[in-house]
Amino acid sequence: MSGHGEPIPMMSRKGGALTGVAQVPGDKSISHRALILGALSVGETKITGLLEGQDVLDTAKAMRAFGATVTREGEGAWTVQGVGVGGFKEPEDVIDCGNSGTGVRLIMGCMATSPITATFTGDASLRKRPMGRVTDPIALFGAKSVGREGGRLPMTVIGAANPLPVRYTTPMASAQVKSAALLAGLNAPGQTVVIEKEATRDHTERMLRGFGAEISTQKTDEGYVITLTGQPELKGQTVSVPRDPSSAAFPVCAALIVPGSDILVPGVSQNPTRNGLFTTLVEMGADITFENPREEGGEPVADLRVRYSNLHGIEVPPARAASMIDEYPVLSVLAANATGTTVMKGVHELRVKESDRIDAMARGLEACGVSIEEDSDTFIVHGLGAGNVPGGATCKTHIDHRIAMSFLILGLISKQPISVDDGSPIATSFPIFEDLMTGLGAQIERTA
Ligand code: S3P
Repeated sequence: MSGHGEPIPMMSRKGGALTGVAQVPGDKSISHRALILGALSVGETKITGLLEGQDVLDTAKAMRAFGATVTREGEGAWTVQGVGVGGFKEPEDVIDCGNSGTGVRLIMGCMATSPITATFTGDASLRKRPMGRVTDPIALFGAKSVGREGGRLPMTVIGAANPLPVRYTTPMASAQVKSAALLAGLNAPGQTVVIEKEATRDHTERMLRGFGAEISTQKTDEGYVITLTGQPELKGQTVSVPRDPSSAAFPVCAALIVPGSDILVPGVSQNPTRNGLFTTLVEMGADITFENPREEGGEPVADLRVRYSNLHGIEVPPARAASMIDEYPVLSVLAANATGTTVMKGVHELRVKESDRIDAMARGLEACGVSIEEDSDTFIVHGLGAGNVPGGATCKTHIDHRIAMSFLILGLISKQPISVDDGSPIATSFPIFEDLMTGLGAQIERTA
């Protein structure tokens, strides 16, 4: 658990080639949405492959607090008896979303158009993150909210008793904001329109359609115009959650930089709103083959065969940022070990994730002997070439799972081992990271 337990110091060091099959867990974004849409449906939703990371477990608990019956039937197998659109009851206590921005923002959206009041909080990381990006659109539906300075948690949302449909253009590329507005629109009469200038992950739209909502996306001069007809009767579904490309990124990137490696990562989502990292890796010279392409749980997936590669720096265009937003920390690790410079542009959203990810990676990379440049929207890593990163530092993870995993991957090829002060946040998204990576042959250990 993140932010609730003792820190778990960890270390990684150079070892042999990585080999074998990496079965990464279910997609975090899709897991949250399956529980939430299950709770907003009539009848039973059966979920398989649910990510049992702390973020998703916190969303399951929240759905129970709003009146749904959420049951774990077996490993990754869950059922939800929903209460229907507009059927949420008022929670008796504060909703603690732990480390999860996705959890809190989507749940605020879906309770905002019901006549109930809920108070939200989270861990020290989540309490620093901006919620105004969600309270602004839900205010247009008629919801009121009051939180700490700067729109921070804890925050109370008073849902609109007579919600109005809304036409809203998201001011930043954010699937969480888009999804919060769409989920609020579910219980408003008429049509809610959400417009985004750049495409962000579209799992909410895909899944709403799958649960029976009338929803369409048109690409126009304004951007992607998503139109949702309010007050549908959503019906419980069977959801098979594909594996998470953002978790797959860690063994994939590790295999690319550890000499001699050759691994298979089966069933990874290739949704075009999520696969920017793989495009980038191929441009950097990665040897990845996308085998057996197919559809699983309404998402395109493929088996990834990944072999050690000589990588070179590239410029990653800003238009790609949304499709790989969670992958920049681990990309910057690869960039440090590549030849030449990697320029990541249009990455300002990284500053408001579980940590300021540009700052966290910049400080840790510098401590490991890598030279970087940064401004508000750009991150540049000057690669030292394969096997030349000195390492030997302890990097701070700032309650951020992806920062912890990224530095542990860097330690697999640095000259000296790399430590992280706290690996406990890894459990929010990838609870089997340590076992999976050591199973492939990686030298990763707890040091406390
Ligand atoms: C997510 C959207 C992204 C991403 C997060 C998951 C989602 O956040 O970083 O890990 O499931 O909608 P933003 O919407 O803030 O870009």
